[in-house]
Amino acid sequence: MAAIFPKASDLVLKIAGVVIGLGAVTGVAAYAYYTYPANIDTGYQPVQPVPYSHKLHAGQLGLDCYYCHNTVYKAAFAAIPATQTCMNCHTKVKDKSPRLELVRQSFATGQPIPWVQIHFLPDFVYFNHSAHVTAGVSCVSCHGRIDQMIEVRQEKPLNMKFCLECHNDPAPNIRPAELVTKLDWVPDPASGKDARAIGEEIIAQKHLNPPKNCSGCHR
Ligand code: HEC
Ligand code: HEC
Ligand code: HEC
Ligand code: HEC
Ligand code: HEC
Repeated sequence: MAAIFPKASDLVLKIAGVVIGLGAVTGVAAYAYYTYPANIDTGYQPVQPVPYSHKLHAGQLGLDCYYCHNTVYKAAFAAIPATQTCMNCHTKVKDKSPRLELVRQSFATGQPIPWVQIHFLPDFVYFNHSAHVTAGVSCVSCHGRIDQMIEVRQEKPLNMKFCLECHNDPAPNIRPAELVTKLDWVPDPASGKDARAIGEEIIAQKHLNPPKNCSGCHR
């Protein structure tokens, strides 16, 4: 656990904090473990009420993630789109399709579509989308190739080890912020720089410093 501590000088204080804090956190964690069995399951892929495909809409049709998840740059939460967003197209496209029946019903009644949430963290963990995407961490780092999934499944564990692996060495996962929704982006070989070199430059420019101390994520 010592490796997690940023400065040796903080060590005594932090250990005291951990010993006091750990009991409380572990209690909550045990509760969370039994009430949210899915939150650490990679591969979790619930059946959705509408057969919406990211592979078709984000992959083949090329819609930007931001078109639907339009709060990711500003908010902690990455909003699921309202039915209106679907109806921008589906009042005309496939407007008789039985696969869109529930979407039309939802639009007519104002009842939201009951999408099943796939990724979630226990309440004792603080997470913020906008802090990550504006720093230049792509959706692909935490969600995998969503643009190739017909049905979304959880690809990454999203546990503490996963978070800390990147916080301890973010460089290979940092890119220019305007490219975070280009899930297939790779550095241009002609630039002569690899992902790590590009990431290191951005980290220096923006003074990025992801939290490694317990209270950074457990507030
Ligand atoms: C046309 C709208 C639309 C676009 C474009 C879109 N999404 Fe989605 N997304 C949805 C809807 C609707 C859901 C909820 C149903 C589902 O999980 O398939 C969703 C669910 C998700 C989830 C799972 C949320 C959860 O419950 O944990 C992730 C992650 C996600 N999208 C990422 C992306 C990424 C990354 C892109 C860009 C490559 C993208 N989406 C593009 C509409 C969209
Ligand atoms: C930018 C336009 C656009 C938006 C926005 C959009 N779609 Fe689509 N959708 C399409 C197109 C185009 C097709 C493919 C039609 C085809 O196969 O010819 C399609 C196909 C579908 C199908 C399959 C229909 C069938 O009969 O095969 C479903 C289901 C669907 N969309 C759901 C949704 C949902 C849910 C949303 C909102 C989260 C959404 N779409 C948003 C354009 C859009
Ligand atoms: C650093 C990791 C990380 C990155 C980068 C990231 N996400 Fe997430 N995403 C998560 C986690 C963790 C959750 C579960 C959040 C929770 O339960 O509080 C989540 C949840 C979601 C959800 C469900 C709604 C919500 O906010 O709980 C959607 C939709 C989503 N992400 C879309 C995206 C899109 C689109 C991008 C890229 C623009 C993206 N995410 C980038 C980690 C990430
Ligand atoms: C792929 C890399 C990566 C992953 C994975 C990742 N982070 Fe981060 N995180 C960052 C970067 C980069 C920053 C931005 C630091 C900055 O702006 O100085 C950050 C910042 C944060 C912050 C501070 C932001 C704020 O609003 O105060 C918190 C809290 C955080 N991350 C929590 C998490 C949690 C929880 C997870 C796991 C579910 C996670 N992170 C996964 C790279 C990552
Ligand atoms: C970068 C974010 C981050 C930091 C920093 C962090 N944690 Fe966590 N922690 C998490 C996440 C995410 C989970 C939830 C794991 C899950 O759902 O499996 C978690 C879960 C826990 C749990 C519950 C048991 C478990 O492993 O699931 C305890 C206890 C805990 N953290 C203690 C700590 C302590 C003590 C520190 C400081 C040494 C710390 N955490 C630092 C993100 C973080």
